[in-house]
Amino acid sequence: MKDPANEKKTGSSGKALGVVLFLLGFIAALVVGWVVFPNLLYSQKTQPINFSHAAHQDNDCESCHALRADGTYTGIPRIEKCKECHESAMGDTEAERILVEDYVAKDKEVPWKVYAWQPDNVFFSHAPHKGKGLECVTCHRKVDDEKTLPVYRENRLTGYSISTMKMVECEECHASKGASNNCEICHK
Ligand code: HEC
Ligand code: HEC
Ligand code: HEC
Ligand code: HEC
Ligand code: HEC
Repeated sequence: MKDPANEKKTGSSGKALGVVLFLLGFIAALVVGWVVFPNLLYSQKTQPINFSHAAHQDNDCESCHALRADGTYTGIPRIEKCKECHESAMGDTEAERILVEDYVAKDKEVPWKVYAWQPDNVFFSHAPHKGKGLECVTCHRKVDDEKTLPVYRENRLTGYSISTMKMVECEECHASKGASNNCEICHK
């Protein structure tokens, strides 16, 4: 026996179920797209030493990161620089113990991961950017008060860091400051 009232009820709850299933599928797709896929694409690496810029605030940036006379960049300081002050440990942090025992004592370079490193086909030099009124933080993370290094996320396909500056970011600034956007400027 058919009860029309009942039938109507089934119909609307079926529709509601459909909506719920659709929403679940939609949410699942978002989770895959925003959480699962990026986590699969990027592997997380930790730096060899948890370097704290905050602990070195008494030192000028230039004492560790300087442009050479020929315009090339010294980049991250080498172990002999650290050795000037860390021949033996001053404090009792694990980071400094690793620095002194595993690197300074063995005269070994620290294999720092550079968050900003560009693919090999990109030419970048700090020299032409110097004296153009640009702050380090225009292109890098703010390090001044940093006590803990950010997680380094490396793209499994390309091998590059997630924080590598994208081409469009270089080009936007070049366009706004009247610098050239010819391909050969950045791709030699
Ligand atoms: C005692 C030496 C020392 C001093 C002083 C110092 N740094 Fe560093 N800097 C390092 C080391 C070591 C690293 C590598 C670890 C890291 O990424 O923080 C680094 C990394 C960086 C990076 C990240 C490069 C990248 O993309 O991976 C930036 C930007 C930077 N420093 C800016 C600064 C600025 C700005 C100052 C001054 C406020 C400064 N540093 C002072 C030693 C120093
Ligand atoms: C001009 C002197 C100087 C130089 C050069 C220097 N440091 Fe330091 N460093 C210090 C001082 C001062 C402290 C603070 C000591 C403390 O608080 O125990 C410190 C602290 C540290 C610590 C422990 C801080 C923490 O929070 O764990 C580490 C690790 C460290 N330095 C790494 C480095 C590395 C790596 C380099 C080379 C890239 C370097 N330092 C170069 C002076 C220096
Ligand atoms: C116009 C953007 C820009 C500005 C401004 C800038 N950087 Fe960089 N920096 C980069 C890029 C891009 C790289 C990666 C270069 C590469 O892949 O060869 C880099 C690399 C670095 C590295 C790693 C270098 C190495 O060879 O190991 C350090 C350290 C660094 N920058 C520090 C600084 C400091 C300190 C300042 C401010 C005085 C600064 N940068 C200003 C874009 C910039
Ligand atoms: C915030 C602004 C800004 C960003 C971001 C920036 N640049 Fe520049 N760039 C400049 C300025 C300003 C000049 C100087 C132009 C001049 O001297 O005429 C310049 C000059 C250059 C030059 C030399 C140009 C020449 O004529 O020889 C190269 C190469 C270059 N940039 C590469 C890059 C790359 C690669 C990136 C991205 C990874 C980048 N720049 C990001 C502002 C920027
Ligand atoms: C101001 C600097 C700059 C200029 C000008 C520039 N590029 Fe790039 N290009 C980059 C940077 C930085 C990357 C690497 C980061 C990325 O992939 O976004 C890149 C990456 C690329 C890639 C690889 C894309 C990928 O996804 O891996 C190609 C292809 C490319 N550029 C072509 C060009 C062509 C063609 C032009 C001229 C129309 C040009 N670029 C002009 C900075 C520049």
